[in-house]
Amino acid sequence: MVRKLTMTSAFLRRTLHSPILNLDAIRRQFPLLNQQIEGHPLVYLDSAATAQKPQAVLDRMEKFYTEENANVHRGMHVLAERATVAYEGAREVVRTFINAAHPEEIIFTKSCTESINLVAKSWGRNNLHKDDVVLLSILEHHSNIVPWLQLKEEIGIKVKWVDIDDRGQFRLDHFIDIMDDGGVCLVAITAQSNVLGTRPPLKDIITKAHEHGAVVLVDAAQSISHGATDVRALDCDFLAFSGHKLYGPDGVGVLYGKRELLQAMPPFLGGGMMIKEVRSDAFTSADLPQKFEAGTPPISEAVGLGAAIEWLGQFSWKDIEAHEQALIAAAIIELRKVNGLQILGHPVGAQNFAPVHSGCIGFTIDGIHPHDLTDILGKKGICLRAGHHCTQPLHRALGITASTRLSVGIYNTLEEIRSVPAAITAAQSTLRSAFPLR
Ligand code: ALA
Repeated sequence: MVRKLTMTSAFLRRTLHSPILNLDAIRRQFPLLNQQIEGHPLVYLDSAATAQKPQAVLDRMEKFYTEENANVHRGMHVLAERATVAYEGAREVVRTFINAAHPEEIIFTKSCTESINLVAKSWGRNNLHKDDVVLLSILEHHSNIVPWLQLKEEIGIKVKWVDIDDRGQFRLDHFIDIMDDGGVCLVAITAQSNVLGTRPPLKDIITKAHEHGAVVLVDAAQSISHGATDVRALDCDFLAFSGHKLYGPDGVGVLYGKRELLQAMPPFLGGGMMIKEVRSDAFTSADLPQKFEAGTPPISEAVGLGAAIEWLGQFSWKDIEAHEQALIAAAIIELRKVNGLQILGHPVGAQNFAPVHSGCIGFTIDGIHPHDLTDILGKKGICLRAGHHCTQPLHRALGITASTRLSVGIYNTLEEIRSVPAAITAAQSTLRSAFPLR
């Protein structure tokens, strides 16, 4: 899933000075990026929260609503046929994108969060019993924590946690120890931290989990737009992601599940289209994928997601990864010059710019709350995210309550990255003169 790069200083020199992608052409396709905020150019460095959308996605959704809109799988008329073809076409695009074996292994949901909840509430309730262990990492987002804590309350499962090291890396040795202790039925693991940008070694984790008979759910919300995802090469049992972090619209998520697992699971939500037959006292479930798509699904959103994936397909993952690694490396180099700034998972004195962080870095600054910092930077057009980023257990493990996050997308430039440290230094002066130390 993750291509390993060796980031030598020669690689860094080359990539920091010669853009790998044609960024002018890419940025022209994102109309939102071309605006000023209070007289400053917009610098959008919050793609881990949501990515901006290329014109191709906006155009595809407009075409759907102006030429094809109808409900899917319900009508015989021409528009119903067009909408169904567009919607099922998007399913096929997603299937190819993640290399799933069968289209019915792709379930459209409303979000990555809903996809994870589907696994917890359907597979989990059906397969887990009191004292069974669900194993998470301390890197997890709340959306891959709370559904399991709900099952802990509901059926008495145990939730265990794998630690990270001082580089913010998943501790495979700790994982192996917990697996060898026994009792783990499900490993639910992020493919990429939404705060540190670190990536657990998924293939090793999945192989070990399967040796112990455990099922593996991968939360790919953050990794999906930064590198190739191949569910068959990974051999994961479930994989979840959302459309909006992949340059597609919000309101659509994907759950991939191995067909035999999905077939054995009861429906998650009840309603229209997820049934074969309903009588006054019972119902039978529809086949996959409709069994898990109750009600009117996110039709235009799925179509928009398909367009986003097709748009992204014009670039190679090799170029996207090299470009984004150069941005992150530059951010580390530049931000480390700011007084009192610590990059999470990048200890003071670390000289190694190996690509430990993908897509984002988190940092703290002595004496400045992330909310104050991002408020001041926001007024200069620089968009960063502040807070606990829905990862309170991770922040607690790091000994902090909040951090600031800088995250990148395909459209970001080195100039944008380089504008951040000076803006932070200016914010430090503003805050120091407003609140002088006594
Ligand atoms: N999960 C998204 C983030 O990390 C919203 O910002």
